[in-house]
Amino acid sequence: MTSPGRTLHTPVCIIGAGPSGLLLSRLLRLNGVDSVVLERRTRDHVEKRVRAGLLEQGTVEVLRDAGVGERLDREALVHEGFEWRLDGAVHRMPFTELCGASVWMYGQQEVVKDLLDARDGEPGLHFGVEDVRIASVTADGGRVVCTIDGQLTELTCDFIAACDGFHGVGRQAVPAGELVGHEVTHPFAWLGVLTAAPPLSPELIYAVGDRGFALQSMRSPQVSRLYLSVPPGEGVDDRSDEQIWRELDLRLTGGQGTLPTGRILERVMVPLRSFVAEPFQYRRLFLVGDAAHIVPPSAAKGLNMAVADARHLAEALTDWYAHGRREALDGYSATAVPRAWQGQQFSASMTTLMHAAPDESVFDRRLRRARFERLLSSTAEATAFAEQYTGIARR
Ligand code: FAD
Ligand code: PHB
Repeated sequence: MTSPGRTLHTPVCIIGAGPSGLLLSRLLRLNGVDSVVLERRTRDHVEKRVRAGLLEQGTVEVLRDAGVGERLDREALVHEGFEWRLDGAVHRMPFTELCGASVWMYGQQEVVKDLLDARDGEPGLHFGVEDVRIASVTADGGRVVCTIDGQLTELTCDFIAACDGFHGVGRQAVPAGELVGHEVTHPFAWLGVLTAAPPLSPELIYAVGDRGFALQSMRSPQVSRLYLSVPPGEGVDDRSDEQIWRELDLRLTGGQGTLPTGRILERVMVPLRSFVAEPFQYRRLFLVGDAAHIVPPSAAKGLNMAVADARHLAEALTDWYAHGRREALDGYSATAVPRAWQGQQFSASMTTLMHAAPDESVFDRRLRRARFERLLSSTAEATAFAEQYTGIARR
């Protein structure tokens, strides 16, 4: 039963306790700015949600600055290159040698756990809040209504940060005409599995061939993350475990039967979708991470882009509260939107490089091969790729 209403105030109301919401709240706290975080799901659900796993160098630096880099530095696997397997031929992409930056393999749920552990005991984080409603957003603040601990609560705030993912309520609260959404759905999906099996190779393998795309990634030396491109509309349970392993082995090893197998711990179907909302601000409401943009998983940019937004908004809000300066807040969208388009551009480019559209012509196939040949033969081309893959080009 919901008890009669109360009104509370917080400087910043953050909707969503994914990586972007938790990081924003953490960075604000370190800078002396209070916030309240409202999360629809339970803590257990949020901590166990398996998703991204590749952290760019810039993301790792932000997490260290936020004081949550200790376990990451101990447990993450640092990568300096990956393998292309093109029609069975192996080519290494030594991205660190090319551009000086590395990437870290560390599960998104581990980042979330570290952020939650860092704030344990601090008030202002509420799980299981299923009815968040943005009642108003004005030029001076906002009002959010929801049920917290069984009590109907009106939360007044100076700012609302929508860190509530692609399907959240934040973006939907922006009146029609104040925001434009640009969207493309690519004609394939990825079937992902998390499995208790060691990876085939210590580096990631991006395999492109006649049977379609496959990716071998990992979360630890004992847990692999593998993806297969599949036609859109395929169901997550349409293939048996045996069929998945056979197809992965065919695409990754040419059917040698050498891909280590193990218990499948989790399956997920990831649609390949690109989306950007413009702008990322409406009055005192700011869009952050997946609430503002979605990238196909091909280049592993989603989490990294979400972290970049959260860091940027935290700095802008700190400027406002600590120094009374509003330039960075006013410029949030103007800076974050072009950076999001850079992430989109590289994600789309990797997507079209690695996947054959269902109606791909011979001409288009030859063009894709020519793009690979340039990437493999030109140091300038490979260096530009490496800068984008590791994220240093977007900083
Ligand atoms: P989310 O993680 O979506 O968090 C939003 C939070 O808001 C959630 O906790 C949600 O429960 C909550 N919420 C939603 N609606 C409401 C509401 N109405 N009220 C209150 N709370 C609400 N990215 C990479 O960088 N590298 C990768 O390798 C990679 N791989 C991926 C693999 C998969 C299978 C998937 C699905 C995604 C992958 N991504 C990857 C993308 C990455 O996971 C997302 O970009 C990232 O989670 C974005 O973080 P976020 O905090 O903005 O949003
Ligand atoms: C992952 O580990 O989930 C992953 C890694 C690299 C990608 C995409 C996904 O390009």
